[in-house]
Amino acid sequence: MDITFLLNGESVSLHDIPPTTTLLDWLREERGLTGTKEGCNEGDCGACTVMITDAAGSRALNGCILFMPQINGKHVTTVEGLAAPDGALHPAQQSMIDLHGSQCGFCTPGFVVSMATAHLNGATDYDTQLAGNLCRCTGYAPIIRAAESCNDQPVPDHLRFLANNIPRTKPQAARAEPPTHIQPSTTDELAEWYAAHPDATLVAGATDVGLWVTKQFRTLGPIAFLNNCADLHGITMTEDSIRVGAATTLSELEPVMQEHHPDFARMIRRYGAVQVRNAATIGGNIANGSPIGDGPPALIALGATLHLRHGDSRREIPLEDFFIDYGKHDRAPGEFVEAITIPRQRDTLRCYKLSKRFDQDISAVCGCISITGDGQTIQTARLAYGGMAGIPKRAARAEAALIGQPWSEATMQGAMRAMADDFQPLSDMRASAQYRLQTAQNMLLRYFHAANGIETDVQGVRA
Ligand SMILES: Cc1cc2nc3c(=O)[nH]c(=O)nc-3n(C[C@H](O)[C@H](O)[C@H](O)COP(=O)(O)OP(=O)(O)OC[C@H]3O[C@@H](n4cnc5c(N)ncnc54)[C@H](O)[C@@H]3O)c2cc1C
Ligand code: FES
Ligand code: FES
Repeated sequence: MDITFLLNGESVSLHDIPPTTTLLDWLREERGLTGTKEGCNEGDCGACTVMITDAAGSRALNGCILFMPQINGKHVTTVEGLAAPDGALHPAQQSMIDLHGSQCGFCTPGFVVSMATAHLNGATDYDTQLAGNLCRCTGYAPIIRAAESCNDQPVPDHLRFLANNIPRTKPQAARAEPPTHIQPSTTDELAEWYAAHPDATLVAGATDVGLWVTKQFRTLGPIAFLNNCADLHGITMTEDSIRVGAATTLSELEPVMQEHHPDFARMIRRYGAVQVRNAATIGGNIANGSPIGDGPPALIALGATLHLRHGDSRREIPLEDFFIDYGKHDRAPGEFVEAITIPRQRDTLRCYKLSKRFDQDISAVCGCISITGDGQTIQTARLAYGGMAGIPKRAARAEAALIGQPWSEATMQGAMRAMADDFQPLSDMRASAQYRLQTAQNMLLRYFHAANGIETDVQGVRA
């Protein structure tokens, strides 16, 4: 593919670049920019963090699972581009030195790029901003102190105006001869091409597909990159629904959910880390069909509808019906996820993500619960779980044991018993079957107590 971008202020045009070349490999192997490090090569450690800027602003991303076409038309700032042209270090670099934020130093380039991006965006919640950067040496306190010490320092001029200086690119049209790859700018273009190339791979944020290449060494055939497909992107509010385009990232979804379903937003803040959420899309989180994805249980509990498109024809299904069995989904060849709509409703949603690590960890169990009633009697109940079956699944028997019953702890206990017939979870490295079932049952009890005003969040409980 042909791409054009800015690298630390310098224009770069590449002809016929293999589309699954990662930015990290290209920087290190083709450009000799070895400041950006490779730790895990799977999005977990942040050693490869780069700053990517486009008209929407600047964000930190993991270069190891970012394919070169995804930076087409953008500005890439690596650790080498943080210092000012006169050599003055960025405040994040200087404070890491002054406050002893670096020991072996392997993590340090990734940290300073994350810190510089947060600084540029005025974000000061450093536990969140730096959760995607792992350090084995420092104990983190000096790093957090270094980040905080940048707060009252100005953004260097050479970074302040990045978003005003984005290269223009031509949309990538498919070539006549194979292999054909495309970076469409409209959903219509994508629909037509994908219907004609049903075996192609769609790449949205590449937080899954990136690992197929870097860890499984898979060779992909024709690829459609969705990141420039403007109308697949964004959130539209109507009177009765919230429509989320499939290519909307988790970072973009979070503030909207904060307004309408804050517990979903709270869970999104534990979804991967900043670098992952800045790339990962809601469409990819659904279409990958994972039984442990965090988006589907929350969306199913909210009664969301999935909008699928094949060529010019469209259909919509309840999201829960998309997941048929492990690895089996209701999506025909050449059909793609166009959007998801969430009905507007009073917020009664609570989301519980259980994982061994608070940040950047896949759920052992993810339970999302929404119960409505008149304060006396339960009228509706939607209990959706990830990690309990081969697909994200509702606890139908537990729901039946709730509906029409009094709002009481005894009712909850009855539903918890019924839930034992809903699921036969597996034991694996994340959790035993028994742990999964018991914690899923207990989530219902937590829901009941929380709705009655009792603090059930470990972070909220104070001695
Ligand atoms: C370090 C790390 C941490 C993670 N943490 C979490 C976590 O906490 N919770 C969680 O749920 N997930 C997590 N994930 C998994 C991943 O981030 C999500 O599943 C993500 O939402 C996938 O979206 P994407 O846009 O990156 O998908 P991609 O990797 O681009 O695609 C994933 C799949 O979906 C298909 N696809 C993408 N868009 C469409 C579309 N519009 N229509 C049809 N098919 C499509 C692709 O062809 C591919 O099969 C993590 C991943 C990493 C690397
Ligand atoms: S090398 Fe670890 S996140 Fe990229
Ligand atoms: S200083 Fe050694 S990994 Fe961070």
